[in-house]
Amino acid sequence: MCGIVGYIGERDTQAVLIEGLKKLEYRGYDSAGIAVFTDAGLKISKSIGRLANLESKLEGAPLVGSAGIGHTRWATHGKPSDVNSHPHTDHSQKFSVVHNGIVENYLDLKEELISQGYEFVSETDTEVISHLVAREYQGDIVKAVQKAITYMRGAFALGVLTEYEPNKLVAVRQASPLIIGIGEGENFIGSDIPAILNYTRKVYILNDGEMAVLTKDSVELMTIEGNFISREMTNVEWDAVTAEKGGFDHFMLKEIYEQPKAYRDTMRGRIDESGSKVIFPELNLTEEKIRSINNIHIVACGTAYHAGLVGGTAIERLVRIPVAFDVASEYRYRSPLITPETLVIVVSQSGETADTLAALREAHANGAHVLAITNVVGSSIARDADDVIATLAGPEIAVASTKAYTSQLIAFYLFGLYLAEVRGTQTAEEISHIIAAMQSLPEQVEAMLENTDAIKAYAKHISNHNNLFFIGRGVDYAVALEGSLKLKEISYIHSEAYAAGELKHGTLALIEDGIPVIALATQEALLEKTVSNIKEVKARGAEVMALSHEEHVSSLLKSVDQAFAIPKTLPLLTPALSVVPLQLLAYYASLARGNDVDKPRNLAKSVTVE
Ligand code: F6R
Repeated sequence: MCGIVGYIGERDTQAVLIEGLKKLEYRGYDSAGIAVFTDAGLKISKSIGRLANLESKLEGAPLVGSAGIGHTRWATHGKPSDVNSHPHTDHSQKFSVVHNGIVENYLDLKEELISQGYEFVSETDTEVISHLVAREYQGDIVKAVQKAITYMRGAFALGVLTEYEPNKLVAVRQASPLIIGIGEGENFIGSDIPAILNYTRKVYILNDGEMAVLTKDSVELMTIEGNFISREMTNVEWDAVTAEKGGFDHFMLKEIYEQPKAYRDTMRGRIDESGSKVIFPELNLTEEKIRSINNIHIVACGTAYHAGLVGGTAIERLVRIPVAFDVASEYRYRSPLITPETLVIVVSQSGETADTLAALREAHANGAHVLAITNVVGSSIARDADDVIATLAGPEIAVASTKAYTSQLIAFYLFGLYLAEVRGTQTAEEISHIIAAMQSLPEQVEAMLENTDAIKAYAKHISNHNNLFFIGRGVDYAVALEGSLKLKEISYIHSEAYAAGELKHGTLALIEDGIPVIALATQEALLEKTVSNIKEVKARGAEVMALSHEEHVSSLLKSVDQAFAIPKTLPLLTPALSVVPLQLLAYYASLARGNDVDKPRNLAKSVTVE
């Protein structure tokens, strides 16, 4: 998730681009760059690191001109570096491109372009676009961009300039956001409204498959096939702070609602076109190495550890390899049995967690192959690991992790299917069946997020309590742990998560009249047993809320006080759905208690101390 901005008009272009990028830094900030038409032609300046680095560079060598594009990067393909920063150009340096998204087939396109004599300088997928546009250019930049797009698969929002037509800025939207800002004698593009809000409140919101051609005095909207369209202008009424949160009251809520996109983005390019096979072109792990693995350790902290519990369970079931789970702060101290046949999977949103990094080093010291699942491609953990699966959730700003957790689940499911295929532990039909169910998850989450009134009301109710319990069996227990952590960290309500069958071994003594118990009951094979455990707490006066599939709700209501339904999916995949109401529950309970939802007390987003 990167940020794009573009400007054409009479103002100081560099200043407009930098202002816009500052407002988009929340979308990623591992490098930034701008391209401007100057008297000396199309000039690019870019720099690794925060935007301030680019600003210092420009102080010594400003770019003065009347049109430009800018980009703040959140690395996906290619580590953060000057050369991988945007804008990208072709070898004639006459074209310049900024891009947000992923070109899924960039490796094939790159190979083709190299065979045609095009030289690449970066590791990015974006550079492919600048060469394609240059190759297709025959005097009309709009046609060249339209032609280039026909070769590309994936998600992209683009801003394109060419020195040959300095009075034009071309913008494209295909599954990555892009808006057009309308001014007087000037026009703008931006990934998001905050980028342009200082200059105009009039915008066109592009839909997928649409593009815009901007001059300083006009904006033409058309489909990427070139059919002109008309659109009503939207007048933005948000203030700057609301705009940064996409109109949501908090980053956490925005990130909860971004989950369907994060699921799609994390799956994008990792499922073959027929939908029957997982592909991981980025992995160094050879098939031979995969066949030699005889055990897996999953190591992480907090929410990432909870994702590991679900992911490891999925891998064990799909691949029948023994999986051990460790919280990273304990891993080194138990002298784990690590051999070169051990695959160690470290999971970290930030990629900077000190305990997880130390665990990774312990694994390396003992000869294990380390795979990192992380949301930050240029992070310490990503750099040190032998292999990286990037979760493409986009930067997560709220301290309480939501979309990173669910994207980690998606990454695990994909990796489990990949291992299963290589080791032959699941048939092609079984794999296709699971992939199809995964592909329905984003829509199912969207459906859940459409109506949240009941969960809001329940959150208000529990916000008056100081203690509560979550129970569940199997992967429901793993989700119960995550639901409980989420509630604790932002609402400050004390809660415990228990394997439902374990309560009677001690904790049942804490159940008393009126105490809320949230029972996850999504696993059909375990339903009867979970219902028995629900009855145990009900008999001691607990007030039980159950989470299950629609078809079980009416029978569950005979044993519980309230029940919420989640859409139907395969048992192993339910965590990707059942966690969503629990995230909302924590959010609304925190809100009801008047807490600082995005910045809970005593916590930090990235924990770089052991
Ligand atoms: C809770 C939360 C933390 C993190 C943990 C590990 O909402 O976000 O529990 O999961 O601190 O952080 P990462 O994933 O960055 O290693």
